[in-house]
Amino acid sequence: MPPRYAVFGQPITHSLSPRIHAMFAAQFGIALDYRAIEVGREDFTSALDAFARDGGRGANVTLPLKERAFALCARTSEEARRAGSVNTLIRNGDEWRGDSTDGAGLLRDLHQRHGFEPHGRCCLLLGAGGAARAVAFALADAGVGELVIANRTPERASALADAIGTAPRMRACAWDELATMRDFDLVVNATAAGHAGNRLDLPTTLLAPATLCYDLSYGSPAIAFLVWARATGATRVSDGLGMLIEQAAESFALWHGHRPETAPVYAELRANPDCRSSPDQVRGRL
Ligand code: ATR
Repeated sequence: MPPRYAVFGQPITHSLSPRIHAMFAAQFGIALDYRAIEVGREDFTSALDAFARDGGRGANVTLPLKERAFALCARTSEEARRAGSVNTLIRNGDEWRGDSTDGAGLLRDLHQRHGFEPHGRCCLLLGAGGAARAVAFALADAGVGELVIANRTPERASALADAIGTAPRMRACAWDELATMRDFDLVVNATAAGHAGNRLDLPTTLLAPATLCYDLSYGSPAIAFLVWARATGATRVSDGLGMLIEQAAESFALWHGHRPETAPVYAELRANPDCRSSPDQVRGRL
């Protein structure tokens, strides 16, 4: 029987992770059994125990389970501790070790597909939840010149800016204050607004023509933000498909000791209609 891996989350039926890991495994001739397991917060611990008993060697964890996964780990990486969440579980004897590869995945995608180096650049992060935390620490590590964090609930933005430290380069701002800000090099949407079908109320002055506008989600939740960015004049927009594949490659390397090629996987998924952030792939820019 091939070794067992899985992604846990809710909802999980549309997860691309089983396809991504199957394509990675094929690059090395590795046989593995990677499945999507739908489970909510209440049943996660027992589902993960059952998975381990059945020989589960590693797992990815997505919404809404990343914080719970962190709490279940006997040991965690520095990245996981700072993000306060775990997206990668590694079986170690009869314990789980936890890591967070989301931040590394974003930095790789920015570098490889967008030629964007955060060092010294002026960045705006929208949101201060679990996804935003991993991104904020990764951007800080990459040496951003300035990171402004804006969140609907301002106290969460302040708490995140304080956790990173190094003020005034890292700072929180109230949503209203965004109207006074201009011309960021990078704007990252890490809010869950698109998942709930809501639009963000953002001033157009945030963007210059060369601003890279990046939504961490892909598919329909990314559309509203990216269409707004294009309509505002941004020529560089991206959904989070590349980040998804890069964070998966980091997980794969932790489990199997080899880093897979991500370019062919990205090309195949980007060409697949199921994975599109239409309208018209946000007017031909994805
Ligand atoms: P995730 O793990 O995806 O980051 P989360 O921790 O629940 O999920 O965080 C969701 C983020 O989206 C938060 O920053 C949230 O803002 P609040 O802290 O004010 O709740 C943000 N968010 C969700 N819906 C939003 C909306 N309609 N407008 C603006 N921000 C929204």
